[in-house]
This record gives sequence, structure tokens and C-alpha cells, in this order.
Amino acid sequence: MLKMVDHMPTPAAFKLDLPCRPRRLRRSATVRALVEETVLRPEDFIAPLFVVEGKPAPEEIASMPGQFRLSIADLVKECRALRKLGVKAVALFPKLDAKLKNAEGTEELNDDGLILRAVKAVKKALPELVVITDVALDPYTTHGHDGVLNAAGTDVENDRTVARLAAMAVRQARAGVDFVAPSDMMDGRVGAIRSALDAAGFTETGIIAYSVKFNSAYYGPFRDAVGSAQAAGTKSLSKATYQLNPANRREALAEAVLDAAEGADVLMVKPAGAYLDIIRDVRERSDKPLAAYQVSGEYSQIHAAARLGWLDLARTRHESLIAIKRAGADLILTYFAKDEAKALAH
Ligand code: PBG
Repeated sequence: MLKMVDHMPTPAAFKLDLPCRPRRLRRSATVRALVEETVLRPEDFIAPLFVVEGKPAPEEIASMPGQFRLSIADLVKECRALRKLGVKAVALFPKLDAKLKNAEGTEELNDDGLILRAVKAVKKALPELVVITDVALDPYTTHGHDGVLNAAGTDVENDRTVARLAAMAVRQARAGVDFVAPSDMMDGRVGAIRSALDAAGFTETGIIAYSVKFNSAYYGPFRDAVGSAQAAGTKSLSKATYQLNPANRREALAEAVLDAAEGADVLMVKPAGAYLDIIRDVRERSDKPLAAYQVSGEYSQIHAAARLGWLDLARTRHESLIAIKRAGADLILTYFAKDEAKALAH
């Protein structure tokens, strides 16, 4: 090896004797493409969509540029557009009128409720599109929590909530969803939902379990979108008693193992970008398909920085998704699904 001396001019013919020159694999776009390890496909994406009652024009969510609350008719149109771009799955979330909410979330019991009608409309128009619904009570409760509260109103009551969620999953299965996705983090809910689905004859309805869901600040814009922000995150009643502490890796893995044992078909880590280590850990410990949810705050912060001219939107979007896939996710729930699918088509 030659020794470099300060201030010595480098001769024009100066050559290192290097057997390994990693830059050989980066010399041209074609060579780079040949050795590319991680590839995104539109089929990797699940697009989360928000649905509202009635026939309003699409209403943009202030903290989520490019995301809208859609009437059922517009939701069907959006699903068609996604389908054309190669996106094969959607996750639907209802945004309810405030007057339909109460502490017990009883509107969820309505067999003709908004989300069930939305599911039926989408499945009727696009039978092959994979439709996923959230199993949690937060869109229905005045306090914004994912379940019902104990008598003192101090915490979400686990077992009574699980009973509600199991019944909720059966209602969604009856409406025709392909997968139910419990996002509530109650103990024992995956097993209870599996038993309830099977008992009702829905052995083919799958469960995508939000197995590793952290108590994250990145859910802020979503809570604006569905109007569940009221109590969640307030001092009196945060979601910390059911969602995971972001500091805990071992506890996260224990949750994933439990959900797999209880019958989850797909495991999920959420959020994604700040938890790539957890995605990798779960990938290595379980042979189940793994989903990761790039949540609202991850989407919004990229948009915000792009609006300020600080980040390039398309490149940052792509890089954020590549990172999640590289970490080990098979499926990615992302609000970028449509835009990235469009970009991949070019
Ligand atoms: C609630 C639910 C949340 C998200 C999906 N389902 C928010 C929460 O736990 O308060 C967040 C999704 C996102 O931020 O994009 N069951």
C-alpha cells in the first residue's frame, strides 16, 4: 500500500493495487439494476382508505396531503384506480359523524353501518380486490379508545373489549372482507377472533394481526382523519396501557409469537420506518408473512418536508418504502401506495 504524504501532488497515473473495487457494480444504471437486491412491486402495497357517510365531495385530510375522506361511491372509484395500477389490497377505515359516537361505540353493532356497506360496495364492484378492515372501536367511541372502558372509566377493559371485537370481526366477515385486522392490542383477541370466525363458519376469513403496535406519536394525522384524537394521548387516558412501549424490543417479539400461536395468518409491525430493527427481528423469528404499516405520521412528515422544499418527495417516498421492504416486510400498508405504484409503472 502506498503511503500518502500531505501536500504531495497526486501523479496523474496514480493507481491503487485493489483486487476489490465495489464501485465496479455501480458504474452504470444497467449494472446497478443487475445487482439490485430489493425491488418494490405494486402488489406489495396495501392502500389504507377513509370512508364517510353520504355523498360529499372528497374532503382532503389537512394533515395528510393527497389523502381524502371518501363517500362510498368515490371509494369504489379509488379502488378501481388502485387496481388498475396493480395494487391488489385496500384497508378501509370509517370516519363517523360525531353524533353516532358514544362511550360504548354502539354504532359498531349496526348491521347496516358505514364500514359494512363500504365493504359490500367494494367487493361487489371488484370481487378480486383484497379488502381488509380494522377491528378496533376507536372510530366509534367518544373517548377515541380502541375498546370499552372499565366501570371507573380509568382504562380500557380487556376481556369485555375482546368480546366486542370478536363479534365485530364476524360482522365484517359476513360483509365479505378477506382479512380482518385487529389493531387494538388487547390480550387474547387474535385467538378469540379466530374462534368466533370459525364458529360462525368463516374459516376462510384471514387475520392480519397488528401484533407489534407501538404507542406512537406517528399516529397523530390518522387520529385527525377518523376523529379519534379527542381523548387518546391526553393525560387522563393514553393508549399506553395497551400499545407497546417504543423502548421494548423483547416485549415486541413476545407479542408477535403470541399472535402467531393464536392463529394470526399475517403478522404486522407498526409504525414501520422507526422500527426497522423490529421488522427484521420478527422476520427472523417467524415464517408467517409479515406486514409493516408506514403510518400517517411517516407519510405526513415526508410531505411536510417536501412542501418546505427540504426533501425530494418522490425519492424520499421510494427510499422510505425500500427500507421497509429491505428490513423484511412482505407487505406494506402505505398511504403512498397509489403514487409509488404510478412511479413504478414508469
Ligand atoms: C386504531 C388505529 C390507529 C391506526 C390504525 N388503526 C391509530 C391508533 O392506534 O390510535 C393508525 C394508522 C396511522 O397512523 O396511519 N385502532
